[in-house]
Amino acid sequence: MTFQDNIKETLILKESAKATFSKFKVGALLITEDGRIYRGVNIEVSSYSLTICAERVAIFKAISEGEHKFKTIFIASDSEKITSPCGACRQVLWELAGDIDVVMINKHGEYKISKMNELLPISFDKTYL
Ligand code: THU
Repeated sequence: MTFQDNIKETLILKESAKATFSKFKVGALLITEDGRIYRGVNIEVSSYSLTICAERVAIFKAISEGEHKFKTIFIASDSEKITSPCGACRQVLWELAGDIDVVMINKHGEYKISKMNELLPISFDKTYL
């Protein structure tokens, strides 16, 4: 899959989101170092705070399948704005995936790429413990 294919797939993937309450659909495509792909969408429930973001679904799926080395995460939504991961997902991605590339995409397929350490500078992690 090319970079552009991954962008297209992430935009399609978000349509599987269960965004019952917010109607804000998000897709996250996580690529391992050896090219395997794990997919996540946001899943909302009526007890709102139990909602989980697309990024955490993707990384938790991957970790539970035994993956530990990651390269890139693509994140897309229906917004005009590029889809920036929330603070909670930044912490989880930093700790479980490290300094990966984050491709943030808007509804038109326009994107911006940042490294995790730019998105979560001076982060708290296991090195403090
Ligand atoms: N959401 C994500 O899935 N990822 C993000 O990076 C930002 C927010 C979800 C959570 C909720 O289901 C909806 O978008 C609105 O906040």
